[in-house]
Amino acid sequence: LTPQDLAGLDVLVTAGPTREPLDPVRYLTNRSSGKMGYALARAAALRGAEVTLVSGPTGLTAPPDVVTIAVETAREMYEAVLQHFEQADVVIKAAAVADYRPQDVAGRKIKKQGQELQLQLVHNPDILAELGRRKKDCQLLVGFAAETNDLERHALAKLKGKNLDLLVANDVTAPGAGFDCDTNQVKIFARNGEVVSLPLMDKNKVAQQILDRVAGLLTDRREA
Ligand code: PMT
Repeated sequence: LTPQDLAGLDVLVTAGPTREPLDPVRYLTNRSSGKMGYALARAAALRGAEVTLVSGPTGLTAPPDVVTIAVETAREMYEAVLQHFEQADVVIKAAAVADYRPQDVAGRKIKKQGQELQLQLVHNPDILAELGRRKKDCQLLVGFAAETNDLERHALAKLKGKNLDLLVANDVTAPGAGFDCDTNQVKIFARNGEVVSLPLMDKNKVAQQILDRVAGLLTDRREA
């Protein structure tokens, strides 16, 4: 039987990639399928939480008993997440948000022109960092880190720099881990210094493991 250890909690999950338009027919994006975030949303709902899923474009079906908000760009995701953040008890940011977007979006399809085409990119807002700044003591913030090298160093920098309670790091170059597959292999870093290395497993199981840690931290807080 699934434990109802998240009953009564408002859980906000983000999933999928963002799409940053260049012109009416082209965009910049990344390889996220949304599977990790959708698994988390589904698992949290099964454990009794009221779940809101803010999702970039994916080919996935919205999980049952989850309020799903579809967005496209990083700025749309920022607006949707910030709007819901105040009421959230737990936020889990599995989305792969584009760090940059094209400075100008052409109103018409960009035509072939010469040998080279220069694109000017500008910074998108860092949603997770903003949540870290606004976070209240009663809220729990979980970030992800998609790394190709120096996983531990980058993970710890994100945990601290973005004021997170948990950071789930995946080496996206490892076979069967990270983007666009049904499995993942993650290392979970907690603010209190605890580190858990999980073996390769189905993303639904990874989601349960992450939620076990979330539920544990909430229990610790209640008992403190
Ligand atoms: O979707 P799948 O195909 O199942 O793949 C899963 C996954 C690889 C996308 C997922 O496991 C994962 O690692 N998600 C985070 C990807 C990412 O963007 O990592 P990052 O290290 O660039 O970002 C760190 C954190 O900051 C993330 O929680 C991200 O959501 C957040 N962020 C990043 C940039 C930005 N502008 N705003 C953000 O909120």
